[in-house]
Amino acid sequence: MTITQIQIRLVRRSFGRAATKKRLIAALFYDRLFELDPALRPMFKGDMEEQGRKFMRMLALIVSHLDNPDQLKTKLQSSNQRHTTIGVRPEHYETVGAALLWALEMGLGKEFTPAMREAWLTAYEIIAQLANPYASTG
Ligand code: HEM
Repeated sequence: MTITQIQIRLVRRSFGRAATKKRLIAALFYDRLFELDPALRPMFKGDMEEQGRKFMRMLALIVSHLDNPDQLKTKLQSSNQRHTTIGVRPEHYETVGAALLWALEMGLGKEFTPAMREAWLTAYEIIAQLANPYASTG
């Protein structure tokens, strides 16, 4: 799985726009996530404000390291540990990816172009490979 420089730029540009609507996009993300899989709700213990901030921090981390996967992998090691401890399963990555794409689409509306969507799909797949301790990596 590779991402092009053009796609990295599209991800960064759309993230820049998403950052101006942090609270909205985080709220859309969690609403959609718990709608897709209500069983995930109990995993998120903090208040939703804090959870929303964590969500945006997580995205910022991803976006800023897209062209440096090795460095990103190191950064994700502690969150991997945390994910395993709280019972995150491989199939949850797909659900989170779907909720993320949906939140960006809803939050950004027409600003979120098909090319941006494609770029985020690729980016998320790469990140999920690194973040998911169960994924087989090549
Ligand atoms: C690409 C995929 C993912 C990445 C990069 C990622 C990244 C992170 C990071 C960096 C944190 C720590 C946040 C912080 O404490 O500031 C975190 C926490 C967490 N993640 Fe993920 N995550 C991913 C997928 C998932 C999935 C699939 C689930 C399952 C539903 C999940 C559930 C959680 C939960 C419940 C926490 C703990 C929040 C808390 O401490 O209360 N994550 N994640």
